[in-house]
Amino acid sequence: MTNTFSAVDVIRHKRDGAELSAAEISWVLQAYTRGDVAEEQMAALAMAVYFNGMGPQELTNWTTSMVDSGKRMDFSSVPRPTVDKHSTGGVGDKITLPLVPIVAACGAAVPQLSGRGLGHTGGTLDKLEAIPGWRAHLSNDEILAVLTAVGGVICAAGEDLAPADRKLYALRDVTSTVESIPLIASSIMSKKIAEGTSALVLDVKTGAGAFMSDPERALELATTMVALGRDAGLRTRAVVTAMDVPLGRAVGNALEVAESVEVLAGGGPADVVELTLVLARHMLELVGIDADPHVAIRSGAAMDSWREMIRAQGGDPDAVLPSARHIDTIRADRDGMVTRCDALAIGRASWRLGAGRQRKEDPVSPTAGIEVLVKPGDLVRQGQGILRLHADDAVQLDSVADFLQAHQSAPITIGAETEIINRLPLVMETVEG
Ligand code: URA
Repeated sequence: MTNTFSAVDVIRHKRDGAELSAAEISWVLQAYTRGDVAEEQMAALAMAVYFNGMGPQELTNWTTSMVDSGKRMDFSSVPRPTVDKHSTGGVGDKITLPLVPIVAACGAAVPQLSGRGLGHTGGTLDKLEAIPGWRAHLSNDEILAVLTAVGGVICAAGEDLAPADRKLYALRDVTSTVESIPLIASSIMSKKIAEGTSALVLDVKTGAGAFMSDPERALELATTMVALGRDAGLRTRAVVTAMDVPLGRAVGNALEVAESVEVLAGGGPADVVELTLVLARHMLELVGIDADPHVAIRSGAAMDSWREMIRAQGGDPDAVLPSARHIDTIRADRDGMVTRCDALAIGRASWRLGAGRQRKEDPVSPTAGIEVLVKPGDLVRQGQGILRLHADDAVQLDSVADFLQAHQSAPITIGAETEIINRLPLVMETVEG
């Protein structure tokens, strides 16, 4: 490409509040992907977007250029309608694991190209890698083969899927420019548009454990992403859901796989089951499949799809999941009612036990994590277990246990039995495309 623009001019335009033209956006994102726009220049541009936002057309152009920075996947040969789900991430959010086989068992194809966890929220690939033998990295031909044979595949996104986002997301992470609605919306939607799914359900989390903790901002993010989907011809619907309290009981990789299998077997915590079914129903509705996901669980069809999907990626669905060398229980220091169970604090503690990573190249422990034994509204007796900590490193376990037992950092509050509890409803809003 000719050197049509100068990065300094593009940054100045955005800094001074102008809308960037389609040509400026296309140039800057392609040049950045090639390495012709320096990281510090892109950091300045991201900060200018952070402060000045983007107009709707400008954001559509930005997203299109992010998609065009790489290759699009092509699932047109798959004989079932394709539909995917994306969650903005939360503590104990293992919903993808039961959801993909359930929706596959109902007749749709789910191409779930996922990422790894960074910070206090876990990553789907990290969770599945707790299953002995399971492979996250598949070639494009393998992805297509598993999707066609099983109806669902969960794997790592290839290097050529929206590479501009890959670079920009890593840069935003270290320049404090993650929390910008246009940058988040374009980052998520560019990957989903490039993935080539025909329909998409977005689960936008809000509350203490979500990175969009304010419900109004979460709704704005949901609306912005749904509009980007519509502009790209992708049938998109969003739900805004609660992440003030961890989802389910299990937080941590192998623990979350075990809980997902419980859901597929017809059990599991009520909130995980409810959210899985809500999202499955939206996905099936978007692609016009009239099937009841609950029946797919009860009949065993969803469990069959899970086993097939795990086997197709080298995993052994019958293998015993790894377990931690050390387990410690935090106990209630009084009688009363649980009034608060802080998702962010529990996510961070699980991360410190080894379940998450600080830098993207760090390994994660498959076994570390936390079992959340009580939720707001539960009555507890002094000495009853409220959190069970799992770790391979005894020193790490003791240090996290001491931290959680200190009063100011306790993630669970026990109050009077008469106290009024303020909890967000699980499903707060639905945004139609
Ligand atoms: N997830 C993404 O993929 N991108 C963001 O910007 C934030 C969350």
